Amino acid sequence: MIYKGKIKSILIFLSFMIIVSLFSACADTNNNASISDSAKSSVGTPKGVKTKESDSKKNTKNNKTLIAYFSRIGNAEYKEDVDAVSSASVNLIGSKVYGNAKILADMVQKETGGELFFIKTVDKYPSLYDDTTAKAKKEQEESARPKLANHVKNMASYDTVILIYPIWWGTIPMPVSTFLEEYDFSGKTILPLCTNEGSQLGSSEEDISKLCPNAKLKEGLSVIGSEVNEAEDDVKDWLKESDVTA
Ligand SMILES: Cc1cc2nc3c(=O)[nH]c(=O)nc-3n(C[C@H](O)[C@H](O)[C@H](O)COP(=O)(O)O)c2cc1C
Repeated sequence: MIYKGKIKSILIFLSFMIIVSLFSACADTNNNASISDSAKSSVGTPKGVKTKESDSKKNTKNNKTLIAYFSRIGNAEYKEDVDAVSSASVNLIGSKVYGNAKILADMVQKETGGELFFIKTVDKYPSLYDDTTAKAKKEQEESARPKLANHVKNMASYDTVILIYPIWWGTIPMPVSTFLEEYDFSGKTILPLCTNEGSQLGSSEEDISKLCPNAKLKEGLSVIGSEVNEAEDDVKDWLKESDVTA
């Protein structure tokens, strides 16, 4: 009887293994399907064998990731002889001028294959740096929502949004607030990536979560403006730790 009982438990275990293997094989052919964490851990994964988890991370390369970025460069009136060019937040690559946020956005794009979206205002900020800081301060005091000139066509199709912005007066620039209020981020994962000159993330994470209470907000990354060009490894590690890339 004990012998029969043992055979029975072995058969039950083997059936369970077959069901789980069939299930995971089906899931392999359907990127949206996945087995539960408990099933995964109870079966275990031999060393060197790709898990479902690493397969599912590849989904980020199927344009389900939106990289929305805001920068002073591209949103300020541009005149060659003003400090829009000489300011610390500007990178000259060849003859082109890039903001720090754009440099980070390109790094994230390279890693994730996501789609880039530039948050652009209808009204430009002044070309002089100090005038922009004054305007931004006033907008913050008034909780302004500057009008945006462009819009994401199908926000519903993205499940992860990497939000890249410079810190303005300790938090997100007001046009980023306009952007966050424009769409329904319920159930979406938001990853804040900011560039700044010392405030780190400031209160930006808190302010993003207030504007998108139903989003899953992951821990943000801060990159000092003058160090954006050396930030590739930090960005890579952060994307991995945040489960965006494998
Ligand atoms: C309006 C304005 C306000 C800023 N406020 C802050 C701040 O509070 N803390 C900080 O560390 N940096 C602040 N900065 C510096 C920018 O965050 C930093 O230079 C950033 O790297 C610029 O990115 P961008 O080139 O993409 O615009 C401010 C810059 C501007 C233009």
